[in-house]
Amino acid sequence: MEFVEAGINIAKEAGTMLLNHIDKPIKIDQKESEFDLVTEWDKKIEEYIVKEIKEAFPDHIVVGEEGFNNNFKSVSLSNLINENEHVWVIDPIDGTNNYIHGLPGYTISIAKFQKGEIRAGVVYSPDNNELFSAEKGRGAYLNGTKINVSKKERLEESIIATGIPSNIEIHRKNVLNQINMIGTKCRNIRIYGSAALHCAYTAAGRLEAYWEPGLNIWDIAAGVLIATEAGGMVSELDGSPFAIDFDTFLVSNGGVGHQIIRVLE
Ligand code: IPD
Ligand code: CA
Repeated sequence: MEFVEAGINIAKEAGTMLLNHIDKPIKIDQKESEFDLVTEWDKKIEEYIVKEIKEAFPDHIVVGEEGFNNNFKSVSLSNLINENEHVWVIDPIDGTNNYIHGLPGYTISIAKFQKGEIRAGVVYSPDNNELFSAEKGRGAYLNGTKINVSKKERLEESIIATGIPSNIEIHRKNVLNQINMIGTKCRNIRIYGSAALHCAYTAAGRLEAYWEPGLNIWDIAAGVLIATEAGGMVSELDGSPFAIDFDTFLVSNGGVGHQIIRVLE
């Protein structure tokens, strides 16, 4: 309980900080390319979250998207997470492009691992004050009310989300092809621009599934726990089990997951 509560309090405070600056000019830098951006607020929020976690739990490790321990490559990052008792994995702003453009749908994502297992997860969407949370074995919640994945079993009645990766050469091209394959078979496609939000919406039964290649663990760690605690399923796009060093990612209500795997094969 103490970890999820800490995550909730920290995410809410971070959300307030973001809302207070949404209308003001912000400094934006490029990361890998001009499609991959970071703002001063990604860094400030990460600094704030790391400081709060370290104050509350001084012996815990914190890994954040914007630089704390990120000199680990994905394999050693997965070792770090698997081999240590307490590791927090955070994304200060998931959906940085939404934040930059003044669009809704950016989230703060905080996950707490214990020896490689995700034990607590919080995804906070400040612009509409929706806080999704889960603790291993205790269900998933939206603003304190229990949530469950949808019961739909047919693609034709499903809304499926995807994400448009910043890597245009490989991942973006793949996603655009995959949209062609699945887009004619489901009710419709949505792209909100935050992996964490897509997982949370799947958990809440708003979406039936979400897929995307090329994500990082901080994008989806909290969302994975929230979705699975709500009755959802996670895997790679070929159906193989989800692991910390995952490559492609699919979360679903269970009912339509296998059909998506077949269509995208
Ligand atoms: C991005 C978002 C987006 C997804 C990208 C991610 P960021 O994370 O989750 O939905 O399509 O692949 O990189 O950069 O905003 O933290
Ligand atoms: Ca981010």
